[in-house]
Amino acid sequence: MNRFIAAYLANSKTGVGRLDQVPDRFWCQCRTFLQVQTVEQARAALGEGADVIVAQGTEAGGHGGRRATLPLVPAVVDIAGAVPVVAAGGIADGRGLAAALMLGAAGVLCGTAFFASDEALSPEGAKAVATAASGDDTLRSSVFDIARGLDWPDGWNIRTLRNGFSDRWAGDIDGLRGEGAAARQRYAEAAARGDFDTAAVIVGEGVGLVARREPAGDILARMVGEAEALLRSAPAFVEAARR
Ligand SMILES: Cc1cc2nc3c(=O)[nH]c(=O)nc-3n(C[C@H](O)[C@H](O)[C@H](O)COP(=O)(O)O)c2cc1C
Repeated sequence: MNRFIAAYLANSKTGVGRLDQVPDRFWCQCRTFLQVQTVEQARAALGEGADVIVAQGTEAGGHGGRRATLPLVPAVVDIAGAVPVVAAGGIADGRGLAAALMLGAAGVLCGTAFFASDEALSPEGAKAVATAASGDDTLRSSVFDIARGLDWPDGWNIRTLRNGFSDRWAGDIDGLRGEGAAARQRYAEAAARGDFDTAAVIVGEGVGLVARREPAGDILARMVGEAEALLRSAPAFVEAARR
């Protein structure tokens, strides 16, 4: 039987996960997923012996890079050979799933789609904010990493919803750094009281497709059902083009 682990490893020199950083106890009968944001990182991850590559586009919620899902996934598929490529970033319904499979992905990895699910550990207030938000309302920045005292390597930042805090500091990163511990303290207090005009709601552009809180199983079943219906109807596109 295969056991699966997902590795989100970042190396400040190479920008890619290093499998030798995974503790030995995980190795026995495990498969390792490495999430990458560029073709160069994918090449390095393949060299490291990843069992599955997750090609993550910039649309994704959370930490990530600059490449978009639509061109990144097929470019990674083209170099991956027999190693399965999973698409991530902006996939939040059956349309995205069907499209990712057409790009050559073996599957999809979704975060934002499940952010407001019943089972998600996201704060209740953040779920409410997310279900009311549009995909237009997100940004990638380092604001929330600095405010939380997290030191991510160059090249990565975090996609979240925009709010009053990011509007204030996204254009003045040096000013935020200059605030130092005082800003971190204010941020931590705001997060603790569920003030999401300051605290980050970590979602991607797919948030515009997340309309309500519901069980994760319902989200998954709808996504698969939609994708199946779309893929079954695909021959109609070819027939229409031939007419
Ligand atoms: C709330 C949240 C937390 C995340 N945390 C991490 C993380 O700690 N490390 C990481 O590599 N990716 C993280 N991600 C990104 C996911 O691994 C995944 O690539 C992303 O959710 C896929 O795009 P989507 O959000 O559009 O579905 C996070 C995403 C979300 C929504």
